[in-house]
Amino acid sequence: MSRPQRHVFVCAQQRPPEHPRGSCAGKGGTAVLQAFWAELQKHKAHDTIAVTYSGCLGPCDGGTNVLVYPEAVLYSGVTQDDVAEIFERHLLGGEPLARLVAPGEAW
Ligand code: FES
Repeated sequence: MSRPQRHVFVCAQQRPPEHPRGSCAGKGGTAVLQAFWAELQKHKAHDTIAVTYSGCLGPCDGGTNVLVYPEAVLYSGVTQDDVAEIFERHLLGGEPLARLVAPGEAW
């Protein structure tokens, strides 16, 4: 396995619906994760990009949260409809998608 140039962590944390912090899975995180995997397949980018599900990344209120390294860019409020744009603009093109970057106080 080659070392990826970018590594994406998609929060797929689940909590009971009544939990006060909510969860990214409760806000569509699983669909977001599947959309990233689909983009990975579509672009045949397995050698350069890794997509991994994660537990809670911290700022649950803003979920679904997605963290991209090595830039340490946190995206919040991500839906499955945003994934292709993040993938093409940031993961392949190197330019973070400003409209979805989490506010400074969240990260
Ligand atoms: S549950 Fe996703 S950031 Fe906490």
